[in-house]
Amino acid sequence: MSGRVLSPRSDTVHPERVTTRAPFGSRKARLLPHRSDTRDAVAATLRAAGCVFAEDEADMILAAADGDPDAVDHMVTRRAAGLPLELVVGWAEFGGRRIHVEPGVFVPRRRTEFLVEEALALAPDASVVVDLCCGSGAVGAALAAALGAVDLHAADIDPAAVRCARRNVASLGGRVHQGDLFDALPARLRGRVDLLAANVPYVPSDEIALLPAEARDHEPRAALDGGVDGLDILRRVAAEAPEWLAPGGHVLTETSPHQARAALSAFTEAGLDAHLAVCQERPARVVIGTRR
Ligand SMILES: C[S@@+](CC[C@H](N)C(=O)[O-])C[C@H]1O[C@@H](n2cnc3c(N)ncnc32)[C@H](O)[C@@H]1O
Repeated sequence: MSGRVLSPRSDTVHPERVTTRAPFGSRKARLLPHRSDTRDAVAATLRAAGCVFAEDEADMILAAADGDPDAVDHMVTRRAAGLPLELVVGWAEFGGRRIHVEPGVFVPRRRTEFLVEEALALAPDASVVVDLCCGSGAVGAALAAALGAVDLHAADIDPAAVRCARRNVASLGGRVHQGDLFDALPARLRGRVDLLAANVPYVPSDEIALLPAEARDHEPRAALDGGVDGLDILRRVAAEAPEWLAPGGHVLTETSPHQARAALSAFTEAGLDAHLAVCQERPARVVIGTRR
């Protein structure tokens, strides 16, 4: 996707960012009487369905269909019905890589690249890397691609995410485990992890309903719902992280502006040195804990 913002949904998980336009997919697409196999026709159909970046998305759909008009029709119909573009074409751009994504799996957000950049700046020589709550494995894949020969372990509770992550990290030598947080990891990693990336679900339960339809209707609730204040899983990660980190190792987790203070407290209460990194452009916030 060559650095352009092609999708209107790059920040959909932030509850405080509520879209003001009609939710994508809320209007009925005017399906074309003929095959939607030209750029203008595809773009017109997408625009009529409420898609903001209709021309760019038309290009991506046509490229993904690879000349198959039935595939174009199928993809346009699914996109017009509100399925996230990334799930329609089967990939998302993350960290300069094409990450395979499929229905039922969280679509990696571009703002999470900030977490990857912070991790790489903190531990450019990391050799044991864990991507906990890995979803598609985008974070682990980006870290392993940048770090070179690392022992990469990714883990998720959801079998669909585990399958998807395997496709994305296998070529990088990564292993993907299924299970509840740290229970999924091989015991031999205890006390040896240099970088622990954990982009956990952090939307407060009551705010799931406020998310744009693309996230609310097409991503698994378990990938979004962080409990009453959104910090249930983050607290569990913070509490167990010191046991798994190597001395001087780091744990990084994304958070939102109104959760940052409580997230920092969770890390310090677990005995970690903690600080907050903020990126204004994307925007993104990452809580970083370091084992003394
Ligand atoms: C916000 S998504 C992030 C996915 C990925 N790290 C990314 O940034 O694209 C959170 C992920 O956490 C997983 N998850 C939720 N609860 C979990 C648990 N108790 N143990 C492991 N994974 C969990 C979900 O299945 C989902 O894939």
